Amino acid sequence: MLEIRNLHVQIEDKKILNGLTLTVNDGEVAAIMGPNGSGKSTLSYVIAGKEDYEVLDGEILLDGQNLLEMEPDQRAAAGVFLAFQYPLEIPGVATMTFLKAAMNAQRKQRGEDELATPDFMKRVRAAADKLQIGQDMLKRALNVGFSGGEKKRMEILQMALLEPRFCILDETDSGLDIDALKIAADGVNALRGGERSFLVITHYQRLLNYIVPDSVHVMAAGKVVRSGGKELALELEANGYADYRSQAA
Ligand SMILES: Nc1ncnc2c1ncn2[C@@H]1O[C@H](COP(=O)(O)OP(=O)(O)O)[C@@H](O)[C@H]1O
Ligand SMILES: [Mg+2]
Repeated sequence: MLEIRNLHVQIEDKKILNGLTLTVNDGEVAAIMGPNGSGKSTLSYVIAGKEDYEVLDGEILLDGQNLLEMEPDQRAAAGVFLAFQYPLEIPGVATMTFLKAAMNAQRKQRGEDELATPDFMKRVRAAADKLQIGQDMLKRALNVGFSGGEKKRMEILQMALLEPRFCILDETDSGLDIDALKIAADGVNALRGGERSFLVITHYQRLLNYIVPDSVHVMAAGKVVRSGGKELALELEANGYADYRSQAA
């Protein structure tokens, strides 16, 4: 279970999160919706442990462990995974080398042996096939020259291989055409189940037709202002965020 209590965060003296409280239960898919600038990406970065954010108050607990006291790599080892809104291009780092290093780093933290190359290749091929990621993409440097949709699918591939405990998807739908969206959603849905939980950030309802959430939370001005079931997403689609903008101000 992920528990966020009364989280206050600033960056460069600008207050972004203002007392955010949210619980995501084991196995739950929680959607976060909200207007641009409400702090959704900031929340994802603070959970994953990106530098530069100053936590003024509050806590983030994953299965009772205090994430805020852990380095980003320790959080990853504890099973936190963030699929970025804007995945970076990393020239000079081969995709396969990166995937292998990431998987083995995590296995090491878990006290497991390194994967032998044939086993690694088999796992990557199987996961890549499902996401329609071709060999040519795997042969290139990480994300370099990938289209927006290819970058997003690469994020889902990493997620599939790392089998995280807690997955955060930040606007995975942005830049995806409808076919790519379905492929990405299928990839996510295949990972649902057991204790694994998800925070799916989006500002459109469309993604949630494919990744059907258990709960929907509306963020405005740095906190959760309303929570409900999946029908809340439809209501937002119909009415927009105007109500929440005024409520938050
Ligand atoms: N590095 C930064 N320095 C100053 N302000 C920032 C920085 N990063 C984000 N912000 C501001 O924080 C607010 C929330 O941003 P963000 O978390 O990206 O919102 P969302 O993902 O909901 O669109 C915005 O007003 C944005 O301009
Ligand atoms: Mg964002």
